[in-house]
Amino acid sequence: MCGIFGYLGYRDAAPVVLAGLERLAYRGYDSAGVAVIDGAGRMEVRKSAGKLANLTQLLEREPLSGTCGLGHTRWATHGVPSDANAHPHVDGTGEVVVVHNGIVENYIELKARLTAGGHEFTSATDTEIIPHLIQELLARGHSLPEAVRLAAAELRGAHAIACMHAGSPETMIALRIGNAGGVSVGFGSGEMFVASDLPALLPLTTSVAPLEPGQMAIVTPEGCEMLELDGTRIDAVRQTVAMSPIAAAKGGHRHFMLKEIMEQPESAMSCLRSRLTFTPPSVTLDELPFGPADIERVVFLGMGTTQYATRVGARMMEQLARLPATAEDASEFRYRDPVVDATTLAVGVSQSGETADTIEAMHLARQGGARTLAITNVAGSQAERGAEATLLMHAGPEIGVASTKTFVNSMLVMYLLAAHLGHARGALTDADAAAHVDAASRLPALLGEALDLNQGIYERFAASYARARRFLFLGRGLLDPIAREGALKLKEISYIHAEGMAAAEMKHGPIALIDDETPVVAIALRDALYEKMLGNISEVKARGGVVIALATAGDDAIEALVDDVLWVPPCPPLLAPMLAAVPMQLFAYHMAVHLGNDVDQPRNLAKSVTVE
Ligand code: M6R
Repeated sequence: MCGIFGYLGYRDAAPVVLAGLERLAYRGYDSAGVAVIDGAGRMEVRKSAGKLANLTQLLEREPLSGTCGLGHTRWATHGVPSDANAHPHVDGTGEVVVVHNGIVENYIELKARLTAGGHEFTSATDTEIIPHLIQELLARGHSLPEAVRLAAAELRGAHAIACMHAGSPETMIALRIGNAGGVSVGFGSGEMFVASDLPALLPLTTSVAPLEPGQMAIVTPEGCEMLELDGTRIDAVRQTVAMSPIAAAKGGHRHFMLKEIMEQPESAMSCLRSRLTFTPPSVTLDELPFGPADIERVVFLGMGTTQYATRVGARMMEQLARLPATAEDASEFRYRDPVVDATTLAVGVSQSGETADTIEAMHLARQGGARTLAITNVAGSQAERGAEATLLMHAGPEIGVASTKTFVNSMLVMYLLAAHLGHARGALTDADAAAHVDAASRLPALLGEALDLNQGIYERFAASYARARRFLFLGRGLLDPIAREGALKLKEISYIHAEGMAAAEMKHGPIALIDDETPVVAIALRDALYEKMLGNISEVKARGGVVIALATAGDDAIEALVDDVLWVPPCPPLLAPMLAAVPMQLFAYHMAVHLGNDVDQPRNLAKSVTVE
């Protein structure tokens, strides 16, 4: 969360930084700011609450000039989104400027000490103490790199920080402590860049050096020096990223989210490409560095939508590979001293590859001796760098904050992994494996059918249901996580409260919520648990509830039982969660559009959650 972008070189810095911040806006969009130092060592800051457009307008009215600039797009942790709390933050002399991603866990204590020493603060943020700490050390005669290094040693928590000093206009310092989102240096010719993540750098350079935790870079327009935070000099590990710049275009769609939903057949195809072999039929995952005999248990780690995907993945792993598998909330796993060993496969799933809790949970599993595998959509991300091996989702860039195509592709990768391990372990016969290869190969076409069904229905539903104050979503088996995801999608973009649960759970409390103003979305596909779902639907109807069923196309019988229906094409059982996700996404999307919400950048959220 929070995006950092810095530039040093020969161009006018402000527009380069602003364009970099645009590529990072998915990390936070509560406020934004930029600081520029001109050739005479004068530093000026512009910042503005709200989305980046506000800062752009401010810079049009009050331009900045200079070839060294540092910017930030914020997701608020301490202090409301406001001009004063926006980054960059400066010290009392106005000479040290800092942008920051992370939480200074001991900021109250540090602020009290600095205040007692005469420092005055103008914001409610934890970040503002950092330029003051640096200034105090500069005043004691330390060089800028040394002052930054010593200030960093005082901070508790995980951080990515970049800073400049008006007295050193051609130097920028970037550092990383722990896993509060990454920070990377980009190498140009006569110009250098600093950014929170690699995709933000790619339109400018593919030559990058990501900082590892505990590293600091001293960047000038000509290059950079790297050191450990204990002061030891190290060589910058430069790498060339083989990834094209993000094509951030909506392709004729009104929103990125809609574009990304519509892209799902194509993104599933990209995920399957070269992973399905037909003679003989099998799933090929060359990326895996371990054999089937090495693994006795699988632990999936993820957060949010991705955690719901892992719940599907864990069920698939048990069913196909007959390996005990659990789906863990990474933020809980990392603090509970979990039991892992060398026969445990810890699979960290993260579309961004930057989610702090998932990265830390993987790290903990690795320390416990587990084998580690990342499933991510971003090559070069922290998840990839921290794991033994990676299975890329190949979903293409996802700009909308609400995950859609990466949700489907995460489940698809886990399906392939489960089928691959199942076949390799002998839990699946050749014939079983062939059936799964056939099923997986049908997914792109079936996703296309799912997108074509229900034309015009979503808009009608949005008009009739948008006034509901809360929703319940019910599902069973592989579709229980899809009910939870349906509820999450609806809450995050329509701001209507929704709860998703295993259908049988409803009787244990939530049934008290049922009334004619609480629509219940019941996922009742024609699967092994269909009749159980019909029982749950009857329980809702018997209490005067309103039911929208998600049903298998052709199931005419269900229409008589419920108030409204959304259809899903008939499909092989293990494709059902991926196909049922589509109407859930479109339902939430049309509700949010009907309510006039900002679908791509919903309030309070960020695309990658790099603080815990
Ligand atoms: O990048 P990740 O997959 O690790 O993100 C995890 C969650 O923050 C994410 O799935 C979030 O819940 C979604 N954006 C919701 O649509």
